[in-house]
Amino acid sequence: METAMFLCTPKVMHGVGVLSEIAPQLALLGKKPMILIGGGSFRRSGALEALLASVQGDYALFEGVPSDPDVATVEASAKAYVAAGCDYLIAAGGGSVLDAAKAAGLLIANGGDIADYETAVPQKASPPLVAIPTTAGTGSEVTKWTIITDPARKKKMAIGHESLMPALAVLDPELTLSMPPSVTAATGMDALTHAIEAYLSDKATPLSDVWSLAAIKLIAKNLLIAAEEPQNSAARGAMLLGQFCAGLAFNNSSVALVHAMSRPLGAYYGVPHGEANAMLLPIVLEYNQGERQERYAAMAEAMEIGETEAEAVVRYVAGLLERLPLKKRLSDYGVQEEDLPKMARDAYNNGSAKVNPRKPLEMEVFALYKSIY
Ligand SMILES: [Fe+2]
Repeated sequence: METAMFLCTPKVMHGVGVLSEIAPQLALLGKKPMILIGGGSFRRSGALEALLASVQGDYALFEGVPSDPDVATVEASAKAYVAAGCDYLIAAGGGSVLDAAKAAGLLIANGGDIADYETAVPQKASPPLVAIPTTAGTGSEVTKWTIITDPARKKKMAIGHESLMPALAVLDPELTLSMPPSVTAATGMDALTHAIEAYLSDKATPLSDVWSLAAIKLIAKNLLIAAEEPQNSAARGAMLLGQFCAGLAFNNSSVALVHAMSRPLGAYYGVPHGEANAMLLPIVLEYNQGERQERYAAMAEAMEIGETEAEAVVRYVAGLLERLPLKKRLSDYGVQEEDLPKMARDAYNNGSAKVNPRKPLEMEVFALYKSIY
């Protein structure tokens, strides 16, 4: 066996209502946090109040982190942190809020432009980050990755370094109950994509495999239930754990062609990440199905499909997409057909495409986009 490093968030608190139990952990991290939140649902749901009760003292609030955070948001939040004299970061929201906080931490510690760190290695440790996801999808609370949009280059930068790993993840299913069905569906399909791509990737390891299969099992059992019964606390809890396992899996393996192809859709047309992955997952699974068939069989078993052929996995995932309240075609998002070649080129050149189990030609990537146009 080749050797490998397994990276994981050191502390994970989980369970219904656990948000109200984090005060002792926060006290270990410093006196004054900067709290990043998104568009307002965290405040409206009363969760912000519960969080502030655990902060027990002075804090700074950075509100309004947009989805798909860009360079300007990261710079503004880093500046606000320094101006307020904070000691650590708390990010409460979807993957976008968590990603913005990770990137802000990197800038706070190391300075420079966030785009520098696409290639430069951060030299200093980021301030501690407490990650509190309110969606069940990105797994950002347990990954070294942050995705930041650079509007000038129409590019979604994937910046990864172990210094970006949160210090504490707080998984409270109650925070995910208010997710509307379409967000539940999109984020859940993102998580399923993480688990599957990590399992099929060239970078898979025996330890990442354990988490991939655990995630696939949890998500296959609970995604439809969570989308159809938003208040089903058991399904919400299982999805939150499932996406966490999927995050652990791809953090220690990689994502692959689905993510390579979804990034240009986000960068050019603002297609939400999970929705883009959901559309792409069935066709990429079909494209890959001649490779690693023993792994398709293991996934089929985790999904409890009752068949072991690769085609059965493809059918199952396509069927899942069919039943979820999501758009199915690129044209539904106003994507222009004439942009498909340049998106195909970007996807083909993306590192995630290079570790896909089947190595695509650029024209094959184009054909895949075209097939769901
Ligand atoms: Fe993703």
